[in-house]
Amino acid sequence: MRVCVIGTGYVGLVTGVCLAHIGHQVICVDNNKEKIALMQSGESPIYEPGLEEIMRSTMVAGKLNFTKNINNAIANSQILFIAVGTPALPTGDSDIRYVEAVARSIGLAISGEYKVIVNKSTVPIGSGDWVRQIINSEIVKRQLDNIPQFDVVSNPEFLREGSAIHDTFNPDRIVIGGSSDQAISLMKELYQPIVDRKIPAIDFLGQLSPQTVPLVMTDLNSAETIKYAANSFLATKISFINEVANICDKVGADITQVAQGIGLDSRIGNKFLQSGIGWGGSCFPKDVSALIHTAADYGYDAQLLKSAVKVNTNQRVLVIDKLQQVLKILKGKTIGLLGLTFKPNTNDLRDAPTIDLIEELTRLGAKVKAYDPLIQSIYHHPILSTIDLENNAIDLAKDCDALVLVTDWQEFKSWNYTQLAKIMNNPLIIDGRNHLDIDTLAAAGFYYIGIGRRAPENSLVAKRVQRDAKKTITKVA
Ligand code: NAD
Ligand code: UDX
Repeated sequence: MRVCVIGTGYVGLVTGVCLAHIGHQVICVDNNKEKIALMQSGESPIYEPGLEEIMRSTMVAGKLNFTKNINNAIANSQILFIAVGTPALPTGDSDIRYVEAVARSIGLAISGEYKVIVNKSTVPIGSGDWVRQIINSEIVKRQLDNIPQFDVVSNPEFLREGSAIHDTFNPDRIVIGGSSDQAISLMKELYQPIVDRKIPAIDFLGQLSPQTVPLVMTDLNSAETIKYAANSFLATKISFINEVANICDKVGADITQVAQGIGLDSRIGNKFLQSGIGWGGSCFPKDVSALIHTAADYGYDAQLLKSAVKVNTNQRVLVIDKLQQVLKILKGKTIGLLGLTFKPNTNDLRDAPTIDLIEELTRLGAKVKAYDPLIQSIYHHPILSTIDLENNAIDLAKDCDALVLVTDWQEFKSWNYTQLAKIMNNPLIIDGRNHLDIDTLAAAGFYYIGIGRRAPENSLVAKRVQRDAKKTITKVA
């Protein structure tokens, strides 16, 4: 099938590359000329494991092309994906001006055969009808004799950054919202190889499940709501476990054991129960805010979602309290951050918890150093100009008063912490993702503090806490 994908970010580029890999003829469009030139030369503008290899192989096979000429791409395709960004406005609502611009471009260029317009971007509920209206209004202005025929469907995306290729070829479900039989039938044909798990071999993909992928067919509004509800549920689940972790800190329980104990209940499930410094990224924060905002537009106060956001906002700077408990004054102290991105295996810093943490540490007068395997230049984000970016563990740890693990990169597990403890001013580590082994860190000479995790009895932290507790008891007596 001939497919046009408009917007080549995390979702658009991955969608285009994966559809080309299963045999479709794909043209990807972007209005960013530099990005198009880069992709035409076989380079991906984003880091996503495996993406560049498949991108190059499908380009060589003649299945994937890139252009900034949106008109030709629209005219020559049967299926048009809208995959542009829908960032949050300061009000919490979604900024849908990029979707609107693309809808207008489609209305201006659409001609010839019947087309399916696919809303892949996460758009406010009701946007399917709104996109149809914009396209129609542009068509009417053209006063054509032959009115182009099209339908709009919603096909929300559930891929995760860092495992986007895997998720696209291994989805838990594919959701298609719409009312036109013709459009739905074309969408089914498009996804058939994925539904049947007939994916041309890729080394890193591993064994695919033998079961076919469930297709969930809904009306437009329900498909759009599914996307917001899924992300809001997952974000709320993380805020829940973070809240329990904070209670664990008070009562002396261990959240990793608690998460295991509740996660084995199949009604709860063991995924998304990793406590830490909170959720970030380009989707959860904006999608939860957008659902709260939509609810308010219809007179409903989404109290549970508001609480999930509140817990998350506090969680991002909880590390500051933990640092202050040990170091007291942070002014003049040096704090080294392990990781910057909102999660591992991506170089995306959009709405990463680190940004709030850096702002707060800097406000309190601390000097911030950071190391991230994929962030080696301050041009990734304006906040990086306020810190020292380091290239390795030694440079990061040198003269630090504390380390804070922000992103659960695999490589942090294999660092030589005994060596790092020796070059720090104070061997304190706050593990903001409960990612490291407590006993290894204690044996390396670190004061280890996790999020809702019990420090081992023989650790320096425990001794210190016991000593402080004894002093308080003596005073009271
Ligand atoms: P992105 O910002 O990475 O990419 C958007 C791309 O669209 C950019 O390359 C931009 O240059 C291009 N663009 C903007 N206006 C254009 C126009 N008029 N014509 C052509 N190109 C244009 O965005 P993203 O992270 O890929 O997200 C896209 C959508 O998918 C959003 O609605 C997002 O909420 C949703 N989504 C994202 C993810 C994710 O993990 N990033 C997952 C699921 C859903
Ligand atoms: C999310 C959704 O998972 C995906 O379905 C949707 O398409 C886009 O939004 P993504 O933002 O790429 O994907 O990452 P995800 O793995 O969901 O993590 C989001 C945030 O939650 C990260 O900051 C991560 O560190 C945090 N997280 C995740 C936790 O704190 N604990 C967990 O148990 C899981």
